[in-house]
Amino acid sequence: MQVKVLMVCLGNICRSPLAEGILKQKTSRLNIFVDSAGTSNYHVGDPPDERSVQIARKYGIDITSQRGRQFQVSDFDEFDLIFAMDKSNYYDILSLARNEGDKNKVELILNLLNPGENMDVPDPYYGGSKGFENVYKMLNDACDILADRIEP
Ligand code: 4NP
Repeated sequence: MQVKVLMVCLGNICRSPLAEGILKQKTSRLNIFVDSAGTSNYHVGDPPDERSVQIARKYGIDITSQRGRQFQVSDFDEFDLIFAMDKSNYYDILSLARNEGDKNKVELILNLLNPGENMDVPDPYYGGSKGFENVYKMLNDACDILADRIEP
């Protein structure tokens, strides 16, 4: 059965496009569908931030064809697993949940690495390229665990 994973941040131009690209790269041989979205509508239709494009490219991942979209309630029906980059995204998603089944699909992505610690992937939007490298490393480690878990 196909597993469907949604990565969610605020703008869907920095963190979640990177998470989508990284997980796709790690799971290209598996029956998995990966997408990303933002809780805001700030960057609907926009390509990923150039700094995310660059850091992805550095690690052999092309995310340039991605376009920003806003998280919607129907994503609870479409996806099996919904990963929030930070607690603000997490609570924004939960506020749209219709029932316990919806809520149970949502998790903070860094809880894959540090269960129960509720750590955030820091928003790199207002910082320099070092922030993007840091975000890449966190997401890469988390996606390693996720890819292992999804592997049949
Ligand atoms: P992201 O970063 O949530 O990782 O895509 C941001 C991108 C844009 C904005 C904030 C965060 N913004 O305020 O426009």
